[in-house]
Amino acid sequence: MPTNHHVAVRDLSFTYDSAHEPLIVGLSANFPRGFTGVIGANGGGKTTLLRLLVGDLEPNQGSVEGANNAVYCAQRTDDPPPGLNEFLNNWDSDAFELRGRLGINDDFLDRWPTLSHGERKRTQIGHALWQSPEVLAIDEPTNHLDQEARLLLIQALEKFRGVGLIVSHDRQLLDALCSQCIWLEPPAADVYSGGYSQAKALRATQRSSTIRTKRSLSTEQKRITKETINRRKHAEKSHQSRSKQGLARNDSDAREKIDRAKNTDSKEGQALNQLAGRTNQLQAKLAKLHVSKEYETGIWLPGSVSKRNLLLELAASSLQLAGTRVLHYPNFHLQPASRIAITGPNGSGKSTFIQHAITQINAPAEKVIYLPQELKATATQKLLSKVRTLPNEELGHIMNIVSRLNSRPERLLSSEQPSPGEARKLLLALGMSRSPHIIVMDEPTNHLDLPSIEALEAAFVECPCALLLISHDDQFLDNVRARRIELVIQPNNDTKMSDWSPVSPVT
Ligand SMILES: Nc1ncnc2c1ncn2[C@@H]1O[C@H](COP(=O)(O)OP(=O)(O)O)[C@@H](O)[C@H]1O
Ligand SMILES: [Mg+2]
Repeated sequence: MPTNHHVAVRDLSFTYDSAHEPLIVGLSANFPRGFTGVIGANGGGKTTLLRLLVGDLEPNQGSVEGANNAVYCAQRTDDPPPGLNEFLNNWDSDAFELRGRLGINDDFLDRWPTLSHGERKRTQIGHALWQSPEVLAIDEPTNHLDQEARLLLIQALEKFRGVGLIVSHDRQLLDALCSQCIWLEPPAADVYSGGYSQAKALRATQRSSTIRTKRSLSTEQKRITKETINRRKHAEKSHQSRSKQGLARNDSDAREKIDRAKNTDSKEGQALNQLAGRTNQLQAKLAKLHVSKEYETGIWLPGSVSKRNLLLELAASSLQLAGTRVLHYPNFHLQPASRIAITGPNGSGKSTFIQHAITQINAPAEKVIYLPQELKATATQKLLSKVRTLPNEELGHIMNIVSRLNSRPERLLSSEQPSPGEARKLLLALGMSRSPHIIVMDEPTNHLDLPSIEALEAAFVECPCALLLISHDDQFLDNVRARRIELVIQPNNDTKMSDWSPVSPVT
């Protein structure tokens, strides 16, 4: 691969058929070797940009240059990546090592539907890296990954020598890997040097400097408008007093005075022309200055505390995991204000445990919000169709929450395929209207953009009802003050829930 290899997009525009507005407009950018971070709100077009780059989608206008031998590592885990079989059955040293390090078994293609999303994600990543592409477009790779897999991923990506584009909401990962970031806020797309933190700081500085320039240009424009009005008034007055009609032919003094004044009038005309020219220049400058709109974010979760003594009470038992593996758990209790997080490596059975637990919750069904780890693309479409038919007032309420979670309702409502992050926000908004006694969320921060993660954290801190979470996101769990309960894989591959409080219930 030549050392100066890079991918470039020229004047790229793209609009989905169903959308009211374009998603990408006239984008020209270079993507050099190394990683470019792709940043933006859920629904901002990150996945779309990656798919345009690798040739999965055709732009309406413009071109992509240099994206040969490009691989897209998908955000969705619904389906196995095309050609996975070749990787799973290949015994070259690269395939062997990648499979070993990422815990990928050769029967994963057959078992795809029952694999955990973490196992699927590891497999997608292993398969993408094994192809050693020149261009790697990797879409939210840390979703579902446990800490060990996340570190392996970072190590592997650090060794990547091609052109990489990475979509992620993982600040540390972006800072560690990226030499530049592209920030999508349709229709704007701006490139900044550095990782996420540097790009964010540069963006903020540029934004305030643009706001300042805009203000001073507007002040200047107002001043010119005022001066123009004054000069016009003045010119009109003197025009009236400068008529030569009614003057005696020989009144040369008066005629000379009027001629002098006419001369001044023409100077006045020149000044007015200059002012008009200046106004045009200012307007042109102002039109070029774009200040991204800032939407208010932050939500309130109207949870309520159940009057029951215990929301959940499970006697010590075990659950069947894939194959012959078993998950053993001790007595498990949840009180009305408990905040518990189940943690543990990929494949340890966290989702299996939670799915079992929710069937035993001691609360009316409408008081339990359960947000699964993933929704299939088809289920997402159905969900949106259902939301579209809600009465206006309710729809408005849901869309207000979506907006306060940092996604644009208009774009979502016109979408044929909501992005996974948009879908999560929809589910959360729908559940919130029910004043729940317990919220159960499987990997709440997956797919969510940073402003909505922060909004969710703040809402969870205030929310009085019980929380039962699964998460690999330590920062999130610290911030919402959840108590962790660990699932540990034993030497015989069974899983054991740590003995957290077998006797007395936790609060
Ligand atoms: N096939 C499609 N048809 C119409 N709209 C789509 C389609 N796929 C995605 N969208 C919409 O386009 C916008 C951008 O989507 P996407 O690129 O997936 O966003 P991101 O990856 O930044 O979350 C979203 O509002 C999404 O709902
Ligand atoms: Mg996406």
